[in-house]
Amino acid sequence: MKIAVLVSGNGSNLQALIDAEKKGNLAGGKIAVVISDNPDAFAVTRARKIGIETIVLKKQDFKSREDFDTELIRKLRDRKIELVVLAGFMRILTDAFIEEYKNRILNIHPALLPSFKGAHGIKDAFKSGTKVTGVTVHFVEKEVDSGPIILQSSVCIREEDTEADLEEKIHKEEHKLYPEAVRLFVEGKLKIEGRKVKIM
Ligand code: GRF
Repeated sequence: MKIAVLVSGNGSNLQALIDAEKKGNLAGGKIAVVISDNPDAFAVTRARKIGIETIVLKKQDFKSREDFDTELIRKLRDRKIELVVLAGFMRILTDAFIEEYKNRILNIHPALLPSFKGAHGIKDAFKSGTKVTGVTVHFVEKEVDSGPIILQSSVCIREEDTEADLEEKIHKEEHKLYPEAVRLFVEGKLKIEGRKVKIM
């Protein structure tokens, strides 16, 4: 199954997926292309280093979000992409894009949804005083951070933890959970029933 990974930043989750594929842990999943909206994303360097095709789409080259996503769809169609994996992609996708890849877009969020939605899931959980937070992999729907949940994993916040400690624990957990969720998708083991995802 051909996978596109969409990135904007460091790409540590992309790296976890690349490593999983190399070890044969993505079932038949193959990362065919990495697309970034940020030319300076380290994720792009990671992909190039191992010879995965990379595409950079700069937002200033497009008149609107719709135009950007139309081009994105064209690139994905051309490559016969079957699964879109968001890995730190800092753009909200248009409804047209989500419709085009309905139930075939995954996202990872650094908190236990539906808590701490938004761009600062780690910071917001840390500041809130909660003692448990975690990681969520979910299908992407039109409303941000709210599609059916595939996998979650919890992370404890200890009194002595700094925000940087928490960030490190969250990322470590993400790098285990995301490849597992992608593998389940590739194996056809995820069945969406309303709000719930059944793992077959
Ligand atoms: C991760 O924390 C992910 O949960 C969030 O964006 C961050 C991306 O990190 N959506 P990286 O670029 O994969 O290192």
